[in-house]
Amino acid sequence: MDATIVVLAGDGIGPEVTNEAKKILDAVGARFGHSFAYDHQMMGGCAIDAYGTSLPDATVEACLAADAVLLGAVGGPKWDLPTAKDRPERGLLALRKALNLFANLRPVKLHPQLIAASAIKPEVLAGVDLLVIRELTGGAYFGPRKEAGDEGYEAYDTMLYTRPEIERVVRLAAEAARGRSKRLASVDKANVLASSRLWRRVTVEVMQEYPDVQLEHVLVDAMAMHLIRRPASFDVVVAENLFGDILTDEASMLAGSMGMLPSASLGDKRNGHDLPLGLYEPIHGSAPDIAGQGIANPLATILSTALLLRHSLGLEQEAQAVEAAVDAVLNQGVRTGDIADPGSEVVGTRVMGDLVAARI
Ligand code: IPM
Ligand code: MG
Repeated sequence: MDATIVVLAGDGIGPEVTNEAKKILDAVGARFGHSFAYDHQMMGGCAIDAYGTSLPDATVEACLAADAVLLGAVGGPKWDLPTAKDRPERGLLALRKALNLFANLRPVKLHPQLIAASAIKPEVLAGVDLLVIRELTGGAYFGPRKEAGDEGYEAYDTMLYTRPEIERVVRLAAEAARGRSKRLASVDKANVLASSRLWRRVTVEVMQEYPDVQLEHVLVDAMAMHLIRRPASFDVVVAENLFGDILTDEASMLAGSMGMLPSASLGDKRNGHDLPLGLYEPIHGSAPDIAGQGIANPLATILSTALLLRHSLGLEQEAQAVEAAVDAVLNQGVRTGDIADPGSEVVGTRVMGDLVAARI
């Protein structure tokens, strides 16, 4: 297969981790006979510096023309002034919207080799294998808002949802649950918020088409607690944008380190394609404190390439080869600093990438 992948390396450790991910894709190409072309584009702080905007039009066009998009991370203190007109994060949100990536898949799987790296007790963690699906283009992130002006001290964001926005992401979650344990937990705050009551109503309606999937409604505050108390009792979880953002940072701690968690942001299938356009990125940020030092964990980005191969290119065997290679390297006892425990061999970003590539 020939595929074009847009690479948005971004800021901070973004370029370091995407370099390793490309190494893995090249190894996959060599072993399975595919040719991947990389189209490097700018988004985030680097784009503000180079073009004066966090999301240049050329980047959006390149992404729309590509088979998939691989993203490192965006942001950093340099662009963080409260008075800034543009921000790296705005570029990411605008890109999600422009590509209509309404569903964000965040699998949280504990690699048993890393159980000691988690802050949570091993007996609570045993069997954790979650797929959190976060709605990505609606809610408070995109609803009408008012910024506080120089003199005004009033500001608001609006958690706005429409029926079709809820329907499509719940349907995607139901399909995912069908392919897994046939259980779906829908997160909301229906005891307080009107948008959550609509969320619940639409979810119940959609799920009538999936009588084989068991549906449970969980209030978001209770979910924050259950994720720590009994994480293994959940399988597929679906939540609106802001709730999903918060809960997935929490859930990442179940996997030991944020440095291990990949994500896929998907839209609808495109005309002429069997598979959706997707944006693949680690769930961690740009980590400006360690940028340029060669010590970042590239595994979340490498595991994101597995999701890219699976969801946007339909290459399941290749995706599994990447996941198996990561497992094999962890079994070997090799670790980056963030997941190291006594007795393990600590390596930098590049060596970790080389070791995984060698196992493809
Ligand atoms: C995430 C991040 C982003 C978000 C930021 C960087 C805008 O936290 O992908 O979870 O809030 O969606
Ligand atoms: Mg987040």
